[in-house]
Amino acid sequence: MVLVARRNDKLQELACEIKEGGKITSGDSSGKQICQSLGIVIGDITEPSTRSAIIETAREQFGGIDLVVNNAGTSAHGRFASASEPRLRRIMEVNFFAVAELTRAAIPILAEGHEPIVVNIGSILGRRGVPYNSEYCASKFALVGWSESIRPELARLGIDLLLVNPGTTDTEFFDHLIEKQGETPWPRQKGIPPERVARAIVRAIERGQREIVPHRKGQLLLWANRLFPRLVDRLMQRWG
Ligand SMILES: NC(=O)c1ccc[n+]([C@@H]2O[C@H](COP(=O)([O-])OP(=O)(O)OC[C@H]3O[C@@H](n4cnc5c(N)ncnc54)[C@H](OP(=O)(O)O)[C@@H]3O)[C@@H](O)[C@H]2O)c1
Repeated sequence: MVLVARRNDKLQELACEIKEGGKITSGDSSGKQICQSLGIVIGDITEPSTRSAIIETAREQFGGIDLVVNNAGTSAHGRFASASEPRLRRIMEVNFFAVAELTRAAIPILAEGHEPIVVNIGSILGRRGVPYNSEYCASKFALVGWSESIRPELARLGIDLLLVNPGTTDTEFFDHLIEKQGETPWPRQKGIPPERVARAIVRAIERGQREIVPHRKGQLLLWANRLFPRLVDRLMQRWG
């Protein structure tokens, strides 16, 4: 496994958790040694050098790639008109361009892997746009369209693609917004545990599913949007 993020301390913690089957040994100065058999790449996924390091680490340390999980993501809250171009570009860079380019670089190696698969972490907001999240929704809609487009191209090479559309999940996501212009007009949703999303992803990979929404309320929103799009539009308008 090759773990990637910008914060080394978090990567070391996760590596130890994985190695020790759930027991976290954060702060342990020997963490680096314990986790030797995991590859760690510290860097920003939007940098081409980080993406090359991921591919090289997988190739050199493990001889190939069977699974790519495109998970890194970010967002911002606030109306589009009062936001900036850099905010839009940064969110598109992290949530879409980095994913597309890492996948492009991995395809030739994945094609030689064992039951290879690309797992793209989208969002229910990649299937229904909501106000105050325009850049995020745009990036996740892009991810959905691109995933659907490349799925048949990858199938030709024997590579599967799973699209995961989580709803609100109890992670640090909302602490890491790149900008927050006031509170959203709807109350903060209680998230589901990330472990539940992770288990649903593993099950979906095993079952060969193409797309999942591992969140009841999220399923309800998408179902309502499909059957009563005007009603959902009216609801969104109240919040605009
Ligand atoms: N939480 C939710 O409610 C929710 C709902 C729907 C979809 N999602 C999606 O789920 C995915 C995971 O989000 P999360 O909820 O787990 O958020 P999170 O707690 O903020 O975790 C994001 C992870 O991505 C890494 N990351 C972020 N930007 C990066 C960059 N530029 N380069 C390298 N690594 C980067 C972060 O590590 P570093 O900060 O150390 O780099 C962190 O490990 C995202 O794609 C998100 O859009 C989340």
